[in-house]
Amino acid sequence: MAKQKTVNVSVQYKELDTIKDELLVVGVFETDTMPRDLSALDKKTGGNIKRVYDLKDFSGKAKESVLIYNADAKSASRVLLAGLGKRDDFELDTIRAAAASAIRKADNIKAASVAICMDVPKGTCPEAKAQVIAEGLVFGRYQYTEQLSSPSGKDGILKASIIAWNKNDLTAMRKGAKVGILQAEGQNYSRSLANKSGGEINPVTLAAEARKLARKFGMKCKIFDDKELVKQGMGGILAVGQGSVSKPRLIMLEYNGKKATKTPDLVLVGKAVTFDSGGLCIKPGAGMHDMKFDKSGGCNVLGIMQAVASLKLAKNVVALVPAAENMPDGNSYRPGDIIKTYSGKTVEIQNTDAEGRMILCDALSYAVKNLKPKAIVDMATLTGACIIALGTHKAGLFANNDDIVTALKTASAAAGEPVWHLPCDKPYRDQLKSECADMRNIGGRDGGSATAAAFLREFVGEDVPWAHIDIAGVSDIKTSNDTMAAGGTGFIVRTIVEYLKNC
Ligand code: BES
Ligand code: MN
Ligand code: ZN
Repeated sequence: MAKQKTVNVSVQYKELDTIKDELLVVGVFETDTMPRDLSALDKKTGGNIKRVYDLKDFSGKAKESVLIYNADAKSASRVLLAGLGKRDDFELDTIRAAAASAIRKADNIKAASVAICMDVPKGTCPEAKAQVIAEGLVFGRYQYTEQLSSPSGKDGILKASIIAWNKNDLTAMRKGAKVGILQAEGQNYSRSLANKSGGEINPVTLAAEARKLARKFGMKCKIFDDKELVKQGMGGILAVGQGSVSKPRLIMLEYNGKKATKTPDLVLVGKAVTFDSGGLCIKPGAGMHDMKFDKSGGCNVLGIMQAVASLKLAKNVVALVPAAENMPDGNSYRPGDIIKTYSGKTVEIQNTDAEGRMILCDALSYAVKNLKPKAIVDMATLTGACIIALGTHKAGLFANNDDIVTALKTASAAAGEPVWHLPCDKPYRDQLKSECADMRNIGGRDGGSATAAAFLREFVGEDVPWAHIDIAGVSDIKTSNDTMAAGGTGFIVRTIVEYLKNC
């Protein structure tokens, strides 16, 4: 089987014309003529860099790039100029994406070592700069190769050096790069779980993965098996899981970064429907294979826990991952069934394909009742309606509290993972009225994401600040793009880690 693609990131101070890697990537802003900083390097290439500018083949527009071959044996054999767009439009995400795209090019041409040097506007924090470049390198390098006999591109380790322009920046950049590596490794861990099929990852094997993670990073781990779920009265998780031969689980991990208190700064809840066939309200065949990604919320929560533990954040975080497989079977839950949830509230099932909310509601009310956290954030591939509303560009953000919306939006901007705030107040709750139970599990086609969020809100109440992030549109990509390989994206992992640093 193929070796895993990994990257070994370091930060170094070097003059561009002395770099000897197989590929040198230079990120430059848009200019009409060659930037002066490149003249020494240009001489090594026999004037080819200047020629590219003079011929107007490249000017540094965003996402534009040109590969220049270098005959000089004492410096890098290839130079990739990567456009960063207009200097005035700069955001940290520009160089994060440029680094990701650069390492994917390096992989393509099978370069064993790459040096990356990015221009940034004056005053940019060197630590933040190195952090985002390292993130781009690590998530850009990731590919799900586990089931391939021979993947394309370069196998195994790729060496990447982030080049400091200024020697005085080295310490700060090394610190930032370390943070970036750990955050993106958390993201990649989430992707590596999400990419596995429903045949491999079911509630039981996912729980085993979580236990392994907890052991590796010294976190507490408690798994509620089906018997324990019955004892606890977690009717929602049990109902969704009852049609599958793999019994449902509730996974709980605890990271205690504060000595003085046990109160969680944050409880994370992630939907892990290890495969969503729709249940008796079965989905059409076309596209059903993508429902292996219906566990992405839970995988993200595990990825965040890995990042938090490896960064040794001084925060307390508890993870709750309800895991079930939604399958059609003689024993499946049915439309018309009335389910008693952990909260005591009853739910009339009108569609067995609206299963995510049925497992999340038990975990959410468990968090409120037993953990008394300062805040709760859940993440879930919850509704197709969210993809209709926001496409595949942004995640939906819903909340019972404005401060948590502000904090998450700030974190999302820093992480380069866009979210969009949508409502979940009373009119949406009213759509969920039932004649025979406290509520029903669907609210009709209109505002499908908002009614799903209003359903969850019912189980959290108004006292604990809570946010729900619908990642249905962003959790996986069908084909590889500039910055990422096809499959799970781990979208929202970096945002939550940023949020935790600042909360
Ligand atoms: N897991 C799906 C949502 C989903 C759809 C995620 C497409 C990613 C891509 C969820 O469980 C679901 O089936 N939702 C239904 C809800 C409906 C029955 C009210 C949907 O969106 O169609
Ligand atoms: Mn479903
Ligand atoms: Zn689902």
